[in-house]
Amino acid sequence: MFDRDSEGVRIELRSLTKQYPGQAAPAVDNVTLDIPAGELVVFVGPSGCGKTTTMKMINRLVEPTSGEIRIGGEDVLSLNPDQLRRHVGYAIQQVGLFPHLTVAQNIGLVPKLLGWAPAKVAERVEELLALVSLEPSAFRDRYPRQLSGGQQQRVGVARALAADPPVMLMDEPFGATDPITREHLQNEFVRLQKQLRKTIIFVTHDFEEAIKLGDRIAILRERSHIAQYDTPANILADPADDYVASFIGQDGTLKRLALLRVEDIPPAESSPDPALLQVAAGTTLREALDLMLAHGTDRCSTPSGVLTYASLCAAVGAPEQEGAGSGGLR
Ligand SMILES: Nc1ncnc2c1ncn2[C@@H]1O[C@H](COP(=O)(O)OP(=O)(O)O)[C@@H](O)[C@H]1O
Ligand SMILES: [Mg+2]
Repeated sequence: MFDRDSEGVRIELRSLTKQYPGQAAPAVDNVTLDIPAGELVVFVGPSGCGKTTTMKMINRLVEPTSGEIRIGGEDVLSLNPDQLRRHVGYAIQQVGLFPHLTVAQNIGLVPKLLGWAPAKVAERVEELLALVSLEPSAFRDRYPRQLSGGQQQRVGVARALAADPPVMLMDEPFGATDPITREHLQNEFVRLQKQLRKTIIFVTHDFEEAIKLGDRIAILRERSHIAQYDTPANILADPADDYVASFIGQDGTLKRLALLRVEDIPPAESSPDPALLQVAAGTTLREALDLMLAHGTDRCSTPSGVLTYASLCAAVGAPEQEGAGSGGLR
């Protein structure tokens, strides 16, 4: 199948429609979308807009009424659904771990189905537990009920990754965790995806999460109609319409500052100044602004030169306020 190579492959949706029996309108109506190989695309939209239905058609947990799906050029609707699902990782909010199986047995389920030798399965389980930051010796023999919600979510992600599928579908996988655990899982996931470069479709109703994780975001209206499909930076800079703007809310400029790092923008002066507030490489513009405000200054020095409040404003196209340096962007 398409996973001869575990790196991501392209996913194409063509005029995809799902009409559930007995419903007045289709749940998903004529959706066409290309997901480039190795990218993480987030579907974001309100509850009931058809996110889960769209995703479940891709691994054929729901059969499309009409339309086409291709993964790595292969026509998904002509494949055996059970075989297909062994090659597409799937992680969901409810996690769906088997309560009577240990953590190791849960993670090893698909590799075992694929006929891997027991030693290879065991090795893979160890590797995945470490990858999701669960100490193998402490966790491999536990049962799901002996784990916290956040730990269960990690095991769910490890299980989805187990057979090293080129494609991962993730439906609100961090939805059931508290905000701190959630942020932790998001950060880890960003780190993981940098290494793995799989093709991932990630569903959420949380726009902040979409911005943080997505290479691209598809903002969906009802029936999965695509309101805008673009990078987080482009959506924040240029929302297609009022519907998209309503996701961004009042603090769009701050969200854009959070997407850029100090080395990403042209400095106001090209050499660092040791006399100024020092800001490290890798700091986001939003963090740099917070530091400047906290220190009551409108300039700081980074390894690439001096940044000013005005250069931050210019970088995100925000109008610079009178009396710069105090709250113009808030
Ligand atoms: N099995 C089903 N049978 C009938 N209607 C369904 C079924 N699953 C979902 N729906 C309906 O399809 C629409 C989209 O649902 P869903 O894809 O779950 O949305 P989301 O994941 O965005 O919340 C909703 O109106 C929902 O009630
Ligand atoms: Mg859903």
